[in-house]
Amino acid sequence: MKRDLPFDVDDTQLQAALARKVAAAVELLSDIARRFQPAALASSLGAEDMVLTDLIAKHAPAIEVFTLDTGRLRAETYRLLQQITDHYALRIRVVYPSGDALERLVAEHGINGFFSSVASRKACCEVRKVEPLRRALAGKRAWITGLRRAQALTRASLPLQEHDAANGLEKFSPLADWQVQEVWAYLHLFGVPYNALHDRGFPSIGCEPCTRAVTAGEDIRAGRWWWEEPGSKECGLHPAKRRQAAA
Ligand code: ADX
Ligand code: SF4
Repeated sequence: MKRDLPFDVDDTQLQAALARKVAAAVELLSDIARRFQPAALASSLGAEDMVLTDLIAKHAPAIEVFTLDTGRLRAETYRLLQQITDHYALRIRVVYPSGDALERLVAEHGINGFFSSVASRKACCEVRKVEPLRRALAGKRAWITGLRRAQALTRASLPLQEHDAANGLEKFSPLADWQVQEVWAYLHLFGVPYNALHDRGFPSIGCEPCTRAVTAGEDIRAGRWWWEEPGSKECGLHPAKRRQAAA
């Protein structure tokens, strides 16, 4: 899929930086596949995760790719999930929340309870994302994320590799030092499928009720849980305490 990019994709500096970063990411993914099996990419199907999915499909297919279907994703995201399955010889594991926990959550907080308080919102993220993530990672030795340092202040000192004590395994973020232009140049140059919402003002895509489009100049994560203060805007998949303290 080709996108009209607001920068020159043929710029030689951009191309040189991208080539260096792609080579480093391929080396890291191959190393993870060799030394940390079983390993898995957690994919939200966002732009960064599509870069990683493409790299894994081409260079490290032993790494599993899974996505957490919260049950509240946008239609465009489900469409992309089907498209990936059609495009790659790659099976994406789809992990769901526990039905019982979901029934209890809705009974206690209401179907859209996440708007009423940060605590209710976090309870929803716990049931729909964090607990399913724990299940998806059970038995794994490493997981891979599409986090980048430039995405948020809370991610500014994100390492390429860290020990995830909460889940008891290594956590890798191979795109930690990538710039957003490099992500989009990669998707463009290699014809990688991406979520149609990225062309409609959604730089960061999560659940439908909790994500809105942003306007030009707004922070890229301004559309996530837009009614909350910036300090609470993490869903629990990536606890930021240690990094915030170090930043
Ligand atoms: S979030 O914490 O705000 O939800 P964000 O959307 O920036 O996270 O995504 C950061 C990384 O978290 C992604 O690159 C991916 O590795 C992981 N992630 C987020 N949402 C999901 C999901 N639904 N399924 C699997 N992984 C996810
Ligand atoms: Fe629930 Fe919103 Fe969190 Fe999705 S992002 S799990 S709908 S609170």
